[in-house]
Amino acid sequence: MVLSKEEVQKLDEEFAKKSAEEFLGWALNRFHPKMALANSFQTEDMVVLDIAWRIQPKVRVFTLDTGRLHQETYDMMDRVRDQYGMNLEILVPDSAEVEAMVRSKGQNLFYQSTENRHECCGVRKVNLLKRLLSGVDCWVTGLRRDQWATRSSISKIEIDAGNNGIVKLNPIADWTDQQLADYIRVHNVPSHALYQKGFTSIGCLPCTRPTQAGENPRAGRWWWEQDLQKECGLHVAAAEK
Ligand code: ADX
Ligand code: SF4
Repeated sequence: MVLSKEEVQKLDEEFAKKSAEEFLGWALNRFHPKMALANSFQTEDMVVLDIAWRIQPKVRVFTLDTGRLHQETYDMMDRVRDQYGMNLEILVPDSAEVEAMVRSKGQNLFYQSTENRHECCGVRKVNLLKRLLSGVDCWVTGLRRDQWATRSSISKIEIDAGNNGIVKLNPIADWTDQQLADYIRVHNVPSHALYQKGFTSIGCLPCTRPTQAGENPRAGRWWWEQDLQKECGLHVAAAEK
C-alpha cells in the first residue's frame, strides 16, 4: 500500500478544510508522475484539470474512450489538447473483448438488462481504468458528494481497495454547483457543449439523455434503469466504502 490507513485518515482531516489547490499541490509534489487525473470532460473534471495544470503543466490526464461517446466529447478532447498543450492519455477498450461481447449480445446490449449494461461498462470503461491504474500510485477524480446518494459521504482521500490499494483523491468532493460555475467563468475553462442542450451529467451517447427541470442531474444516465445505484463500476469501491 502506498499510504497506510492511519496516514490517510490524518491527511483527510488535515485537508478537509484546505483548498483544492493546496490539496492537489501536495499530491503532485508527492506522487507526480505516478499520479493521473481521470477526465470525462464534465465540468468537475475540467476544474480539477485546470487547477492541477496551473501547478504542474506536465500533469498526467487520461480519458476512457469507450468508443460510444458523443461527438461533443471528442471535440472537447481536441480543445483540451490545444488549450493546455498536453498529450491526453486516451485509452480505448481491448478490441478482442469488444468483438466477443458485441458478437454474442449485439451493439446495444445495455438496454436489455442491468447485467448486460454492467458487462458493457466493464469492457468499455472499467477494464481500461484498471489497466491504467496498475501503473500509478494515485488517481484523481471529479466526484462530488452533491451528485448522488451513493456519493454523499465520499472522502477527499481514500485507499482504493479495488485497485491494489493505491490512493484515490476526490479534491472537489465538497464543492457546490455555484463554486464550479464561478471557477470556470473566472479561469476561462472549456465547457462541454452538451450542457447547452439540457444535459446535466454526460456519459456515453446511447446511455445519456438531457434532464428536465426538477429532475436529479444524474437522472439522464442509464435513464431506463430503475436501479438507484446508477454507477458503472468505476467508483464501486468508493461507493461501498
Ligand atoms: S460514472 O461512473 O457515472 O460514469 P461520472 O460520469 O459521474 O461517472 O464521473 C465521475 C468521475 O469518474 C469523473 O469525475 C471522472 O473522474 C471519472 N470518469 C467518468 N467517466 C470517465 C471517462 N470516460 N474517462 C475518465 N474518467 C472518467
Ligand atoms: Fe456501454 Fe453505456 Fe456503459 Fe458506455 S455507459 S460503456 S455504452 S453501457
